[in-house]
Amino acid sequence: MATLASAAFAQPKLREDNIDEVLAAMTLEEKATLVVGSGWGSMNAGSMTASTKVLVPGAAGTTVAIDRLGIPPTVLSDGPAGLRIDPRREGEDKTYFCTGFPVGTVLACSWNAPLVEELTAAMGNEVLEYGADVLLAPGMNLHRNPLCGRNFEYFSEDPLLSGKISAAYVRGIQSQGVGVSVKHFAFNDQEINRMENDAQIPVRALRELYLRNFEIAVREGKPWTVMSSYNKVNGTYTQQSHDLLTGVLRDEWGFDGIVMTDWGTKDGTVAAVQAGNDLMEPGMPVETKRIVAAVNDGSLDVADLDRNVRRILEYIVKTPRFSGYKYSDNPDLEAHAALVRKAAAEGMVLLENKGGALPMAAGKVALFGLNAYKSIAGGTGSGNVNKPYIRHISEGLENAGFTLDPVVANIYKTWRDYQNAEDAGAHFLPGNALGGGLTLGEGVMPEMAVRQEVIKNSVQRNDAAVVVIGRNAGEGDDRTLEGDFDLTSEERNLLTGVCNLYHQAGKKVIVVLNVGGVVETASWKSLPDAILLAWTPGQEVGASVADILTGASNPSGKLSMTFPVNYLDIPSSANFPYYKPEHGQLIPAEYIALAEEMGYKIPEPQPVKDYDYTAYEEGLNVGYRYFNTKNAEVSYPFGYGLSYTAFEYGKPVAKVASDGSVSVSVSVRNVGGVAGKEAVQVYVAAPDGGLQKPACELKAFGKTRELAPGESETLTMKVTSYELASFNSEASEWQTAAGTYKVLVGASVEDIRGEASFKMAKAQSWPAGRLLLPKE
Ligand code: BGC
Repeated sequence: MATLASAAFAQPKLREDNIDEVLAAMTLEEKATLVVGSGWGSMNAGSMTASTKVLVPGAAGTTVAIDRLGIPPTVLSDGPAGLRIDPRREGEDKTYFCTGFPVGTVLACSWNAPLVEELTAAMGNEVLEYGADVLLAPGMNLHRNPLCGRNFEYFSEDPLLSGKISAAYVRGIQSQGVGVSVKHFAFNDQEINRMENDAQIPVRALRELYLRNFEIAVREGKPWTVMSSYNKVNGTYTQQSHDLLTGVLRDEWGFDGIVMTDWGTKDGTVAAVQAGNDLMEPGMPVETKRIVAAVNDGSLDVADLDRNVRRILEYIVKTPRFSGYKYSDNPDLEAHAALVRKAAAEGMVLLENKGGALPMAAGKVALFGLNAYKSIAGGTGSGNVNKPYIRHISEGLENAGFTLDPVVANIYKTWRDYQNAEDAGAHFLPGNALGGGLTLGEGVMPEMAVRQEVIKNSVQRNDAAVVVIGRNAGEGDDRTLEGDFDLTSEERNLLTGVCNLYHQAGKKVIVVLNVGGVVETASWKSLPDAILLAWTPGQEVGASVADILTGASNPSGKLSMTFPVNYLDIPSSANFPYYKPEHGQLIPAEYIALAEEMGYKIPEPQPVKDYDYTAYEEGLNVGYRYFNTKNAEVSYPFGYGLSYTAFEYGKPVAKVASDGSVSVSVSVRNVGGVAGKEAVQVYVAAPDGGLQKPACELKAFGKTRELAPGESETLTMKVTSYELASFNSEASEWQTAAGTYKVLVGASVEDIRGEASFKMAKAQSWPAGRLLLPKE
């Protein structure tokens, strides 16, 4: 008690250079309060301060203030497609909209790390200017399965692409003097039962796939914070895994920021503190109590608590709120919208373009599909952004000089307005931790059936038809096969009807996919003349689509994932809850007691496959690592995307430097008729012998600048010897084998344009801890 009393008398005010002194002056209660956020939906300064002022309405949470020690609160806000705050405040006319940026998948499909950095610098500026300290982003779980409901927030099926794009994302945001929270660390690869699911992953796949992307983001992006996930890994909640949060993240990768939980609470608060989960968000008073009690009864070493408190103080002194930054509440939304329009077009992927159907001159167009008139800018859930507007595809085309068929437009607008009235706004997802009260985006309205006469009558009035197909998804649930991955019968009938009737008249049909994730394409892709995969590319969706259709932008996006022929071709489909399993029936405790009194034993409910646990039996067989190695047919391969121009690749050259790193150079020439950019991919096939490997793996990539016709550029891409390594789980070490490696330089994983090779004179290895092994 003597120490507590004397601590309470010391009143140093927090500065960058007196963290030890402040820590020493803190009471146990103050320490326990600082490591627990200020509560659900609570955007005020927390319980240890007199101030109850709401700091940034709509932010996801705060760290608490301790006025006595000059510790300010800090504000944590979602993420990742822009800042999510309330757009309106009570009693004010002023609005607080934020730019709706392209979702993570679009950023990855640009294959353009510098562009991502430029874009997220603008996003970071909104974080700063609206008074937040940390953006809860990027979301970067791997696309293990295309039906994961949050894939749109995430980048890719490949850890290198995901990691490099994430690192660029982090650098962009943090260049503004605010932080990020890289999430969800880790293995949060499905939404169904995300709070409790146990991801059971073989150690090699866990290292090479699901942690590799985070490793790159941490080493190269240096994020201020990391968010642990809700789920378990191999039997332990990630937020309570010392192996993960200390062994891997800090000891192996050198992370020196803070780890916070994802929004919720679990029983094992003390285990989380011990594991190195510094901050509980959004924070519950019971968590503070547990920590105090555990220190008092000796089950928690105060040194563990002090270590976490110190890290939080180190974080706080970096924040704009600590330095008293006077934010304007007035970022340049117009400039950011222009940037979004440009960047979005770089992440869209041209999947088909028969006979050069695109670009097309602005003319008379019959625009079909509800999402043409109610376009989707981004996903739902915490990843939704309250943006000032969505530029619908219909508007984008009209602004670009197209005349939209009024009869067709009218039918859809009537349907849209009717649905809008029925749905009236906010969309809440089942099982969403965020609960009510927040606008989390709108769901997709069902597509309507269109009579063939309507299509037929429109043909002679128009030069071409554009059909928009929309899909959206979000936090709290995974996607389904029927009517989501697959087209609905209404969509199929529309597509076949439009294609038949317009083609009979010699007119073109363009399909625009305004979707958040992979959809089935193999059965219908031969029907239209062109398919533009526009994704959900942010608030300027219509403008960006129009830019591509008219050729104002030349598409240069390429797929960051594989489009399979059938969903069930994907190995992880054998262990993914697309069929919506539920937890075994829970019998109320009083009935169990009653039954036991009567001498019956009620059997424990058994863990349900893909719900209580998910076995990652496919191991490394994720995406192209599987399809390419097996030479199995896909609808569109990883890395694929068309351009309005053509590129010729020179012969690649690979050179090994004395530090074992390899540089691969290749010249790329624009041999087509219009200016364009090309995303170049470097795949490496490891020498025979040693560990069994996928046929090849992406090890580097680059994108040319915009090349005029005839112009060329030489790209030089570097691969370190560590990046070549595979994880030997027996030896628990990363190993790069000696021998001759094949370098495959391509326009996609299936379109290899040139080969080179290099020789590693000697093998190299990097020991790693024996961590994250399945529980016995
Ligand atoms: C989501 C996180 C998000 C947090 C705060 C959680 O439900 O999983 O991604 O950052 O809520 O809104």
